Amino acid sequence: MIVHTVADLRRERRKLPGRVAFVPTMGALHEGHRALIRAAKESAEHVVVSVFVNPLQFGEQADLDRYPRTLDADAAICAEEGAELVFAPSAAEVYPRPLEVSVQTGRMGEIVEGAARPGHFDGMATVVAKLFGMVSPDLAFFGQKDAQQLAIVRRLSEDLNLDVEIVAVPTVREPDGFALSSRNRFLSPEERVTGLALSRALFAGRDAVAEGPEAVLAAAGPVLEAAAKADPPLALDYLVLADPATFTQVPSGHRGPAVLAVAGRVGATRLIDNLPLEF
Ligand code: PAF
Repeated sequence: MIVHTVADLRRERRKLPGRVAFVPTMGALHEGHRALIRAAKESAEHVVVSVFVNPLQFGEQADLDRYPRTLDADAAICAEEGAELVFAPSAAEVYPRPLEVSVQTGRMGEIVEGAARPGHFDGMATVVAKLFGMVSPDLAFFGQKDAQQLAIVRRLSEDLNLDVEIVAVPTVREPDGFALSSRNRFLSPEERVTGLALSRALFAGRDAVAEGPEAVLAAAGPVLEAAAKADPPLALDYLVLADPATFTQVPSGHRGPAVLAVAGRVGATRLIDNLPLEF
């Protein structure tokens, strides 16, 4: 069932006994979202999926306008994967008036991906807090692909005592390693060849993990430098080895978990990817 208003969502939500798992999305669903819904389905009696392109987390109007909107196909995917309820509100339903109170993600939202997209994580965390309030889930499922978002949502749930268990689901990749994303559909075949450098750099870094953090960055860097000279070129934003919980860069000689994260632009399309590593 699809509902478009908060009132209808709450009415239908109240009819769901047992544990409810929530998969927040911005639509344009692909195999990565199917994996989230399947994982949600395995962990709870009921699954609610939201489809909402959140204007608050977009910096540029053009990026928001360009974001793919495919609600009919999204609803079909949700039904195929067994999600009972799809919440697809309008922007006016979610933001009936300008917000006076919103979520600030602080330092965590300003570094790495946040430095490239000022305000993005505040807008993301604000809508996630609102969606949690609307859906009242027991668990919520987020892709590892957006590793910094995942870290911030964990802190959001803990710091504000939202009582929602945050579950991470591994990134789904194409056979050649390219991470799935709703934005991939914008890439020309030539841009996709350049964009493949992101995952190739991450895999090169992973192959050097036994030699330590510096070796990982040294192995990944040249793959991205080559892509920066390709036609079309990669405009690299960052390559970082970060603490998965705080997203601060790990010190040299670091032992324990880390995330190797990369972002860049090919043509008009921004791509991000990451790999969790253990030192
Ligand atoms: O990852 C996304 O699709 C979005 O950032 C989210 C979590 C649905 C919030 O708008």
